[in-house]
Amino acid sequence: MARYLVTGVAGFIGRSIAAALLARGEGVRGVDNFLTGKRVNLVGLEAMEFMEGDLSDPAACARACAGVEIVFHEAALASVPRSVADPVGTNVNCVDATLNLLVAARAAGVRRVVYAGSSSVYGDAPTLPKHEEMLPNPISPYAVAKLAGEHYTRAFARVYGLETVVLRYFNVFGPYQDPTSHYSGVLAIFCRKMLAGEQPTIYGDGEQSRDFTYIDNVVHANLLAAAAPAEKVSGQMMNTAMGTRITLNETFEILRELTGFSGKPAYAEGRAGDIRDSLADIRLAGELLGYAPIAGFREGLRRTVEWYRTGGGVE
Ligand code: UD1
Repeated sequence: MARYLVTGVAGFIGRSIAAALLARGEGVRGVDNFLTGKRVNLVGLEAMEFMEGDLSDPAACARACAGVEIVFHEAALASVPRSVADPVGTNVNCVDATLNLLVAARAAGVRRVVYAGSSSVYGDAPTLPKHEEMLPNPISPYAVAKLAGEHYTRAFARVYGLETVVLRYFNVFGPYQDPTSHYSGVLAIFCRKMLAGEQPTIYGDGEQSRDFTYIDNVVHANLLAAAAPAEKVSGQMMNTAMGTRITLNETFEILRELTGFSGKPAYAEGRAGDIRDSLADIRLAGELLGYAPIAGFREGLRRTVEWYRTGGGVE
């Protein structure tokens, strides 16, 4: 019997959470519509009950939630530029899907939903680090959609008593992140290109910074969020990050060492909807979950490069 449901399980973060649960001997169901998830990411998850389904379909949500106690909701269209190109698609797959899932979770008697939030909701406010009491200021359709999902999730705690925890992820990277799409995360793209000897492109001057968060830390935070006492965490929202930031130019230099790439990056015009700097205050997750990063940025980047070097991410 599946005690846990992971949505977006064929995506990089969902896959990683499911693998950690299976390693603990838990019963897991996973759902994905393969819009951006990859079948190859399910390799190694054979002990999981897999269901192909689209969360914009309420019936699929009902099937996915049946009999489950805890949901990790990772399914989304995770890209700022994709949302600029297709705001309606982002809304359907981030907002409608989340609301349908919450309705189904409540109807099925799910105890807790852990929601994958996004640091993009902080937008362009210059204050660093970003802390949870700051007013959200979404500047892309994607950020609006992730914020709407966050509010729906918290409202379900308030009005229906569903236990919910929102984790605002900051630029997650690591093995299993798809490097092949134009909409992929920057580190996945850079790893693939630089290992292949291809020149990566930096949008803008490369001085934008991110709190790049290695996947093991995100999995760790999710497992803590699932286990924490409801009176402490339910209805809460908290940053999930390393609590350090690095510019793209600096990251490129580290990747040069790790990949052996000898060229320079190409520079192109900055991307619409991009935020400039991002850095998390991670004290709240520390207080509420006992969260602290368990794997550092450089070590995470080294493991990530090795994963792509040995053929990861290629179907
Ligand atoms: C990322 C996530 C988003 C998450 C958010 C906050 C992805 C695809 N997006 O958005 O889901 O909610 O963090 O945690 O993981 N860039 C380049 N060259 C490239 C690609 C990107 O210079 O080839 C630049 C972008 O212009 C941007 C930075 O790298 O300035 C990061 O871009 P990206 O990895 O897409 O992440 P975010 O937009 O920050």
